[in-house]
Amino acid sequence: MLAGNWREGRIADGTPYGFTCPAPPRYRHQWYWDSCFHAIVWRHFDPARAREELRTLMRGGRLDGFIPHTVFWHDGAGWRRAPFYATHSVRGNRGTAHIQTPLLALAWELVAERSADDPGFASEALDALRLHYDWLGRHRDPDGDGLISIIHPDESGLDDSPKYDEVFGWMSHYLPGYFWLVERSRRLRYDSRAIMARYEEHVEDVLVNVFYALSLRALARLTGDEAYRARALRTEQALIELCWDEDRGLFWDLAGSEHTALRVSTWSSLAPLALPSLPERIATRLIEEHLLDPRRYRAPYGIPSVSMAEPSFQAGWHLFRCWRGPSWMNTAWLLVPALRRFGYGDEADRIVASCVALVERHGFREYYNPLNGEGLAARRFGWSTLLIDLLGDTGGALALPSESPFVGSLRGELRSMGVEAASETARRLNRRAAAAARRLRPG
Ligand code: GLC
Repeated sequence: MLAGNWREGRIADGTPYGFTCPAPPRYRHQWYWDSCFHAIVWRHFDPARAREELRTLMRGGRLDGFIPHTVFWHDGAGWRRAPFYATHSVRGNRGTAHIQTPLLALAWELVAERSADDPGFASEALDALRLHYDWLGRHRDPDGDGLISIIHPDESGLDDSPKYDEVFGWMSHYLPGYFWLVERSRRLRYDSRAIMARYEEHVEDVLVNVFYALSLRALARLTGDEAYRARALRTEQALIELCWDEDRGLFWDLAGSEHTALRVSTWSSLAPLALPSLPERIATRLIEEHLLDPRRYRAPYGIPSVSMAEPSFQAGWHLFRCWRGPSWMNTAWLLVPALRRFGYGDEADRIVASCVALVERHGFREYYNPLNGEGLAARRFGWSTLLIDLLGDTGGALALPSESPFVGSLRGELRSMGVEAASETARRLNRRAAAAARRLRPG
């Protein structure tokens, strides 16, 4: 499937590219964190492609260390979506001017470990990687507390998560006001320090900072430069000092210059479980009070992206909103190894087995209903293959069938969206009818 989603070639100026589209035709470009996840999976089957995917991502960046959220290589942004992409102008951009959860150094290290056939890979881009993480520290941490900020909700990759509703309000990613959020960033030329000085809608996001810290650790190992380890520890300490809520036993994102806690329980509140420095006492609370609580995150399928106890939790499909409840594979990929590390192997096995069942029944979908296991949204979705990384080593040299490029069709997309919309509507009507019947029942 990854081979079918692979695109390579050269753009007009001769720059080569090679990357995996997340899911054509819906997602045809290169997305930053998708590419990192794809490379992590590719390294098991075809390390050369894993390397090319990361090199291409790096090539999409600027000389000052900025790397875009989305890069448009072979295919420009469609006219319908172009105004909503965070680009400098509506047309004619090679990439967006905003970021996505920065796990490139982490992915680079994981791919380098599988690159015995190209030993130079580990060190060939150290300067560029340093520049990237230095750019993030310089431009995205204006208050110097060790936590980097996002200025648009989709910069975390969790576009419509209910945790952002309070801060972005009418400019949320799924509302028409998002257009204004993009437009006002354009007017300030995406100067993130200027944007944060002028507007209060910015978030020190827990998930983003967990991946940032893990990547700084990877960069310290790749470069041998202890300064990056110190930066990672600082970020990790800041997460505990500023984001940890002792009463609720969860981590909260912090919004605006006042650091207002966004108290909505999403998988991002559990993400610090992946940090090697997390005190066991905190880990045990996250796991026992939340991850393994059947009212919160212990769902029949995968790990839900929002606690099932949140009023905003929605298990099913929605045309304009994602990350409001369904289980995604990268959630399990981040949290399952932590469960094992803290001694919950049986629960880890149970979650992985449920993810295997999801893929066997529905294929690699963009996300799944955590309650009934229905496969939802895009088909042939790249990073859902992270399940393979979770299953452990495949031994490297698997003979892969060669796949011709998968293109998909608009008609197929519309049909699958129609089916999902119909089943979601039926479910809601049934729920309503059942509730009405309960009300009518005597006594
Ligand atoms: C959706 C997801 C985002 C992902 C993108 C491409 O927008 O929310 O995380 O990067 O699709 O797959």
